[in-house]
Amino acid sequence: MAEFTLPANSRVGTGKTYKAPAGAKRVRAFKVYRWNPDDGGNPRFDAYELDLAATGPMVLDGLIRIKNEIDPTLTFRRSCREGICGSCAMSIDGVNTLPCLKPIKDVKGTVRITPLPHMAVVKDLVPDLTQAFAQYRSIEPWLQADTPAPPDGERLQSKKECAQIDGLWECILCFCCTAGCPSYWWNGDRFLGPAILLQAYRWIADGRDEATGERLDALEDPFELYRCHTILNCTDTCPKGLNPAKAIGAIKKLIVERQV
Ligand code: SF4
Ligand code: SF4
Ligand code: FES
Repeated sequence: MAEFTLPANSRVGTGKTYKAPAGAKRVRAFKVYRWNPDDGGNPRFDAYELDLAATGPMVLDGLIRIKNEIDPTLTFRRSCREGICGSCAMSIDGVNTLPCLKPIKDVKGTVRITPLPHMAVVKDLVPDLTQAFAQYRSIEPWLQADTPAPPDGERLQSKKECAQIDGLWECILCFCCTAGCPSYWWNGDRFLGPAILLQAYRWIADGRDEATGERLDALEDPFELYRCHTILNCTDTCPKGLNPAKAIGAIKKLIVERQV
């Protein structure tokens, strides 16, 4: 039977409020999504009041301060703190981004933080990326060439060849784009999504790779590639300024070109 309301256990409730210490000068509230699969409770928003005078400038600094000094049960991923590892991706004020690159001063009022949308949650702000990384494996993201490597072991590129993968190699697999793609929301089990398709094109565009035909064969599928309807959410949201929609368009163009 069709369900027209969310299941009761998915409703997000109001949690605890942790007040700023007395004497705090620049108070800002962080409202953070919390869910613990082990306690059987519904998700909730906890509110933490931070004194920005004693907090680093980025949203991730605020989260680390909460975890270190206020509530050690808060769970999120992070590693590099400088937009390189891709592990901290989450939604801040409804926009998928990296908290380590997001200045608190760029957020108006309460900083509202939720996990990446439309992905299962492991705990609190940690999304389950099992499917996304299985899809990554499926595109065989490594250089494939039958031609033996030169005796010194390196396959060199010209500057022009190198430029062909600019805008692609910088992808840090944060999945902000994939989590923002409506086509992935509805068909994520079969559509590869923008992050993985950008990565697929990264190898297709690499002049040293000799498996272009096989790579295009694998992608020429009504779901894996063609569920992209050029909505462009992916390009709008990429915190590294990349353009997955353009990479997807380039794959489609190559598939058409080899048919004519
Ligand atoms: S352009 Fe394609 S991949 Fe990007 S958000 Fe739209 S449908 Fe998704
Ligand atoms: S294309 Fe951008 S948003 Fe998507 S995974 Fe790569 S870095 Fe993240
Ligand atoms: S902590 Fe590495 S990208 Fe944010």
